[in-house]
Amino acid sequence: MARKKIIAGNWKMNKTPTEAVALIEELKPLVANDEADVVFCVPAIDIIPAVEAVKGSNIRIGAENMYFEESGAYTGEIAPAMLCDAGVEYVVLGHSERREYFAETDETVNKKVKKAFEHGLTPIICCGESLTQRKQGIYIEWIRMQIKIAFQDVTAEQAKKAVIAYEPIWAIGTGETATAEQAQEVCAAIRGCIREIYDEDTAEAIRIQYGGSVNAGNAAELFSKPDIDGGLVGGASLKADFGKIVNYK
Ligand code: 13P
Repeated sequence: MARKKIIAGNWKMNKTPTEAVALIEELKPLVANDEADVVFCVPAIDIIPAVEAVKGSNIRIGAENMYFEESGAYTGEIAPAMLCDAGVEYVVLGHSERREYFAETDETVNKKVKKAFEHGLTPIICCGESLTQRKQGIYIEWIRMQIKIAFQDVTAEQAKKAVIAYEPIWAIGTGETATAEQAQEVCAAIRGCIREIYDEDTAEAIRIQYGGSVNAGNAAELFSKPDIDGGLVGGASLKADFGKIVNYK
């Protein structure tokens, strides 16, 4: 069975609530496409107006992070139940920016992945190597380690529903996209790792995105690769170009 593509925007720390609604209204007609799942991952404060604004459309709302505890004395954090109650369906976990600036580790990502599944949220689990790791030729081992820890104690049934985003750090926000061949190589290796951890069915079901300077010009080639099931898009998700990415065919 062919996997449905999933094309998600990661807004990062952009757009006030008012701006978020305006952008959604602008993009709504441009991203109408039933062939792919379309997700807007928005800042926490934009979630409630965004959920309201996408009602009746094909757009689903994701969060950019969450905490792994249910509730309590964790000032500034957001609990999974809060996201669910607000109408969020996806959550980006372990983005390289959170690993770099906010001390996210493979272990905290694993805790968050398990917690997301407990609450019925679909995690978009990010992995990816630095330029140094790529140059040293250790990127596949590095990413396999990230995946193995992220999926520790996650069942095959849960893993089948997960989304993995392969985002080479050197390609994020740099305009330097991985070639389709480079992206395919790693996405195939990730699927191979999932096959080793679980089984063929799980490896075939799980969706693996590429992220890193995806734009309207390179999306079609990237998404045509057999192991690339869509994209996690930063900068280009904040403009009309996102419509072209969603309708890349
Ligand atoms: P850019 O598309 O801006 O390179 O960002 C990629 C990314 O980090 C998406 O999560």
